[in-house]
Amino acid sequence: MSMRYLFPAAAAASFCGILLFSAQAFSQPPQPPPAVIRPGAVWPDNRGQHIQAHGGGILKYGDTYYWFGEDRGQGLDPAKRYVSCYSSKDLAHWTFRNQVIKLSDPENFGPHWVLERPKVFYNARTKRFVMYMHIDGPAGGRPYGIARVGVATCDIVDGDYRYLRSFRPLGHESRDIGQFVDDDGTAYLIFEDRPFGFRIARLSANYLSVEKQMCLIPAHMEGGALIHYQGLYYVIGSRLSGWAPNPNKYATARRLEGPWSEFRDIAPPETRTYGSQSTMLLKVVGTKKTTVIFMGDIWKPRTQWDSRYLWMPLEIGDGKLWLPEPKPWMLDLATGEVSFP
Ligand code: GAL
Repeated sequence: MSMRYLFPAAAAASFCGILLFSAQAFSQPPQPPPAVIRPGAVWPDNRGQHIQAHGGGILKYGDTYYWFGEDRGQGLDPAKRYVSCYSSKDLAHWTFRNQVIKLSDPENFGPHWVLERPKVFYNARTKRFVMYMHIDGPAGGRPYGIARVGVATCDIVDGDYRYLRSFRPLGHESRDIGQFVDDDGTAYLIFEDRPFGFRIARLSANYLSVEKQMCLIPAHMEGGALIHYQGLYYVIGSRLSGWAPNPNKYATARRLEGPWSEFRDIAPPETRTYGSQSTMLLKVVGTKKTTVIFMGDIWKPRTQWDSRYLWMPLEIGDGKLWLPEPKPWMLDLATGEVSFP
């Protein structure tokens, strides 16, 4: 067949193609702009209720983020402690999934027993979700005298977790905990050991125990959070001032074993971390940029259910880390880029 005869057919086909393409382009709804994260504001979930995930942690499983934290909602049974789980695909809109822990005093620690700072890891070998939490209660005349971690597991990310036991990691006191999964998939627990400082330790292969200490940073800090960014580890912690905010600080090291640098302020100290306390650092690797998010709690001790969240992208690199003044922001999860409305 000669081109003379082919051409009209090809032209018609490509013309139709253009029409089809244009029709598709017009029929696609415009992409909504990334949702706005508002530090310090009430953060409603899909039910319109303020998110209850205080002292929380984030697990990315598949293409979904899961946020676990202390549920300090009103009207709960005062004898029980609760952990709630929310899911999101954009880190801004959160769907309530389940109260994954509704626990009565599991080891007879008494009416003032404590369950704080739950963190969930996914173990790819056992295909189980493993939750660590700060388990405590009065002992030796001190309100937080027991100083242990608790472990609970579940086969489903947002299922009902089964409490297994509590223990002192590697025999040390443990109060505030933080979670960290390195780029090679190794899982670590950060825990505050009051007599000595801040410990980073590797979990065992099944994650059900704490296996090996990587370092002891001899600084008395809690709210521990850790990130590996461009070849450096950055650790953040707050001073020990209970619910009251204080100037959080960071240090860096090339290896988890150290040596660790001096601690420096992450924000102007007079702002006391803009009224917040660190709980987690989250790295979002996009096609254009890697963004590290500071996640903190703005505690309201007298109206705990109304405690707020301060999430802000950090200025980070070359051994420096800085929390900019909080303001509403947006994250493009695909590119990793941050913008401001
Ligand atoms: C903070 C700690 C919180 C909670 C509080 C109780 O220092 O980070 O998780 O334990 O003390 O006073």
